[in-house]
Amino acid sequence: MTDPPRPLMAGNWKMNGLSGDGLALAAELVRRAASAKGEEAPACDLLVCPPASLLWRVAEALSQSPIAAGGQDCHADAEGAHTGDISAEMLKDAGASYAIVGHSERRAGHSETDALVRAKAEAALGAGLCAIICIGETEAQYGAGETLGVIEKQLAGSLPDGPGAAEVVVAYEPVWAIGTGLTPSLDEIAAVHAHIRGILGGASAEGGVMRILYGGSVNPANAAEILGLEEVNGALVGGASLNADDFWTIARSCP
Ligand code: PGA
Repeated sequence: MTDPPRPLMAGNWKMNGLSGDGLALAAELVRRAASAKGEEAPACDLLVCPPASLLWRVAEALSQSPIAAGGQDCHADAEGAHTGDISAEMLKDAGASYAIVGHSERRAGHSETDALVRAKAEAALGAGLCAIICIGETEAQYGAGETLGVIEKQLAGSLPDGPGAAEVVVAYEPVWAIGTGLTPSLDEIAAVHAHIRGILGGASAEGGVMRILYGGSVNPANAAEILGLEEVNGALVGGASLNADDFWTIARSCP
C-alpha cells in the first residue's frame, strides 16, 4: 500500500481582487505561514490562484513563503494572435507554478470542450506548470444519476497521456456545488473519488498517487470531514479562499 500523496490546498480567487485587497490577503497568508510552526503548520501544500492582473505581484509577495502561485486558465498556444488570452509560458514567467484548466466556469462560460481542456493542460505541462484539471457533473446530470459516467468521459477526454503524479492534479467539482453552499454527501464524495482513483490508478502507477482534490462550497465547517475522506487529497476552494481566516482554517483541517 503506497502512502497517500501530500494534500494540496488551492485557493481560486476567480475574478476577485484588486491590488489593495488582493495583496493584503497574500501578505496575511505569508504572515500566517511564517508564524505557523510544527503542529500549527497546515499538513498540506498551499497554493493561491489570483486573477491574472495580480499574478505577478502576488507571486512576488509569496516568493519567500511556502505558498505557491497559480493561474486560473491558460491558452493552448504558447504565443500569438489571441486577444485577451494568456499563455502558460506567461503564467510561468509571472511566477506561477500551477495552472487551473477546465474549471466549470470556463467550460460553461467559454464553451470549453474536453479536447480544449486537454490541449490547455498539455500547454501547462509544456511550460513546466502543474495542471489542475477540473471535472464535475452538472445538477441535471447529478439528478439523472450520471455522475460517474460524466466523470469517466471528462477524464478520458481532458487528461494528457501519461503525465507524472507531480505534473497533474485532478479536481472533482460538482458544478451544482460551486458557490451554492450545497455539497454532495460524504459518501457521494468518497464514491466519486474512489472511482477517479480507480481510473487513474488503472491507467498508470503515477495515477495511483496523483492528487485528487474536492471542490465546491468547501468552508471551515465542512472541511475536516471532507478532507478526512480516503482519496480526497486536498481541496480547490473558491469563495472561502478570499478570507484569510477561512482559508487558513480549511488548510489546517487537512489530516
Ligand atoms: P466555491 O468554488 O468554493 O466558491 O464553491 C469552488 C471553485 O469553483 O473552485
